[in-house]
Amino acid sequence: MPFAAVPYKTKGYSSDHIGPKRLLSRISTLRPGSRDGALGHVPRIHSVDFARTYSAFDQGRAAVWKNVKIVVADLANRAHSLVMKTEPLDFILATVSIAAIGFIAWAATAFVVAPATRMLFHEYHVVIDGLVLLFAFGLACALAVRLVLLLWPLSPGDYAMIGRPFTEWKLLAVLTGFGQGALSPFTTEFAKPVVARLFGAKIGGDTALGGGLTDFPFISVASGCILGRNSIVTGHALTNGKLILRHVRIGQGATVGVGAVIMPGAEIGADSIVAAGAVVPLGTKIPPGQLWGGIPAKRIKEIHVTDIRA
Ligand SMILES: CC(C)(COP(=O)(O)OP(=O)(O)OC[C@H]1O[C@@H](n2cnc3c(N)ncnc32)[C@H](O)[C@@H]1OP(=O)(O)O)[C@@H](O)C(=O)NCCC(=O)NCCS
Repeated sequence: MPFAAVPYKTKGYSSDHIGPKRLLSRISTLRPGSRDGALGHVPRIHSVDFARTYSAFDQGRAAVWKNVKIVVADLANRAHSLVMKTEPLDFILATVSIAAIGFIAWAATAFVVAPATRMLFHEYHVVIDGLVLLFAFGLACALAVRLVLLLWPLSPGDYAMIGRPFTEWKLLAVLTGFGQGALSPFTTEFAKPVVARLFGAKIGGDTALGGGLTDFPFISVASGCILGRNSIVTGHALTNGKLILRHVRIGQGATVGVGAVIMPGAEIGADSIVAAGAVVPLGTKIPPGQLWGGIPAKRIKEIHVTDIRA
């Protein structure tokens, strides 16, 4: 009940739909014994009436405070849903692993690289050391992702949003995010496939990655593919309290149009085209040599490879 008016009663008259502020200002302008359009006859106000008015104030304050609490609880819920379902263990794992990786990268830079850069670059060695530190941190994150997957393999499947697979998936997402961020100053458009491979994706040669890939270990893109700008290829979908993890396979020479979304479990056949802006839903299998488009993506027509390559 958002900020409902509380009924106020004073001796001789009552009003069900008037707030405490208005009530007081109304009373202060009235002469005792006169009549008021909304309030009716205004009696002489004794001290007991003021006591009742103040108690109405208390009720009003309590009602407002109750509503504030509801709004705050609602905002907290919304904020919680924005940061996904997280447990204290997630924060501990992420903090400990990022701190450990940071320490290893710093130690490698300070003790192995810095002596050499000091000799080579003199007073500018600090800049070089900073770049080396970022690079080492990114590489160490990629190694950590590989190590976690080696120790606790994560298979495709549907998982509850609580328990080991979900916790591991979140840790991998954090490590990948930090690692990609650290490597971003060195990642030109052409180097994107290299970074994706570092984090466990299978990417063939001559492939242009204009879009974003998530869940690298679950993504395989054959050679000669084009992934348009702002396209998204994702190996996970959080749906109805479930984490859905599936492999995504993109066949040789396939094109994913700009802004298209490829959901987990989708397979795009060799030389097929997903039109710009299409959404290929969970588990959709697109046969080779077809044009698919729309939301959800549907077959539009067959493609003759010679048509495209002529
Ligand atoms: C779909 C696409 C390949 C055009 O192919 P095309 O052979 O010239 O096809 P047409 O323009 O003749 O259209 C064929 C049908 O597809 C439909 N279509 C075209 N683009 C579409 C899209 N983005 N979404 C849904 N349907 C689409 C057309 O409406 C047409 O339907 P109709 O036969 O019912 O009239 C092109 O628009 C596209 O999206 N290319 C992706 C390129 C890209 O983003 N590359 C990434 C790196 S830059």
